Amino acid sequence: MNNYLPEFHITGEQGWINDPNGLVVYNDEYHVFFQYHPHGVKWGPMYWGHVKSRDLTHWERLPIALCPDENEDGCFSGSAIVWRGKMWLMYTGYKENDGRETVRQLQCLASSDDGVHFTKHGIVIGENDLPEDYCPWDFRDPKLYERDGVFYCVVAAKKRNGRGRILLFKSHDLFKWKFELDLLGRDSGGIMTECPDYRHDLGLLLYSEQNQPADGKKHLNIHSTFARFGRLSPKGFLHGEDSEIVDYGFDFYAPQTFCGAPVMIGWLNMWERTNPSEKFGFSGQLSVPRKIEIRDGGLYQTPIFSRRLVREERAFKTLDDRLLSGSVKLSAENLRAFDIKLRKYDGEYISFSLCGDEWIFDRSKAGEPIVGAETDDDSKAGIRRMPLIKKKTSEIEIVSDRYSVEIFVDGKSLSSAVYSEPEADGLHLEIDCDGVTYRRYDVAEK
Ligand code: FRU
Repeated sequence: MNNYLPEFHITGEQGWINDPNGLVVYNDEYHVFFQYHPHGVKWGPMYWGHVKSRDLTHWERLPIALCPDENEDGCFSGSAIVWRGKMWLMYTGYKENDGRETVRQLQCLASSDDGVHFTKHGIVIGENDLPEDYCPWDFRDPKLYERDGVFYCVVAAKKRNGRGRILLFKSHDLFKWKFELDLLGRDSGGIMTECPDYRHDLGLLLYSEQNQPADGKKHLNIHSTFARFGRLSPKGFLHGEDSEIVDYGFDFYAPQTFCGAPVMIGWLNMWERTNPSEKFGFSGQLSVPRKIEIRDGGLYQTPIFSRRLVREERAFKTLDDRLLSGSVKLSAENLRAFDIKLRKYDGEYISFSLCGDEWIFDRSKAGEPIVGAETDDDSKAGIRRMPLIKKKTSEIEIVSDRYSVEIFVDGKSLSSAVYSEPEADGLHLEIDCDGVTYRRYDVAEK
């Protein structure tokens, strides 16, 4: 057992992880798979790691679900669905060179009778199922859903010499698939789209963009995740031009929602950054699960984990406490000033403060630096910003674990990995408002 792992955030037992995959409710349990390289702390041949839970908090580790084999050099991201009592996984079989000049990425199927052991069924959306002007080497991350007894999947794709696209395929049996349409009908902002997720029930399209250009102080991470609101019609995805950034922090990418529940989990990390936890034998973790809702044309997130109340305070201006794994929740009337320092230890801390009309998160003074490919001033200074939404009552929750801080303010999130001293737990809060309730929670026992 690796004693350095986060307390309630999903990671591999050892090695590297990236995207959450195959999120599905099966026999009343939440199953989560993830991109996994068990043999090294850097990205490598991709396996599917697997955990399950009844409460989205305490995770039981299950055997690796998918491994590369003679047909594929890696099992890339994908999703899951339950049909006729079985769990079905659809993923991208990645093969290098394949006798051709380039890689190929095609969609494969696997199934399980017990939700633990999987049988592969091979490629079900092949090169010939893809319209000719799209390339089979950038075609990945199928997300399944069912509607009126028909199966659909959205898949990230690219036109030859183009940028990212999202394609819709349709099937009656999960084995034979037919191309339906190109969702947005135009190139995306990044060089390639990844991990699309469409929720007809919510009217939501989620997707991530590789190398999304920055827009002022927005999208400063090299790669970014978006939400668009609307529904699919036979003509495509009906939507306004507006998209919303899903998370304002340093580390949130490739989120997926559960088949069977409006709950989203993302990869709480980012490509092209150093991972100081490598020295403990692992890199990467998944975010806390988040209940998602669409309200007034926007995405709202609420973190989910089993909480146990350990402290409650009202009417104060400053407060000292301890928080390592768990959360603090604040409800503040007419908030005028706010500054919290967390993970305080020996002069180090991270901070989250209200400055004019924006929130500022700063991880530059906390533990081991994380070095990324970003060259802008905010990134170099360890800073991320989130707009202030003016409200009579502000609801703030800060979820913390050994290597992460996820901040939720009125449903908007800012998530970042933090490599403070593993035991750094000091907290100091200064607040100016008309009335405040402070609650601190531990992670409840199973
Ligand atoms: C997103 C991604 C996916 C791909 C997987 C490979 O982070 O690049 O597009 O399937 O990671 O591990």
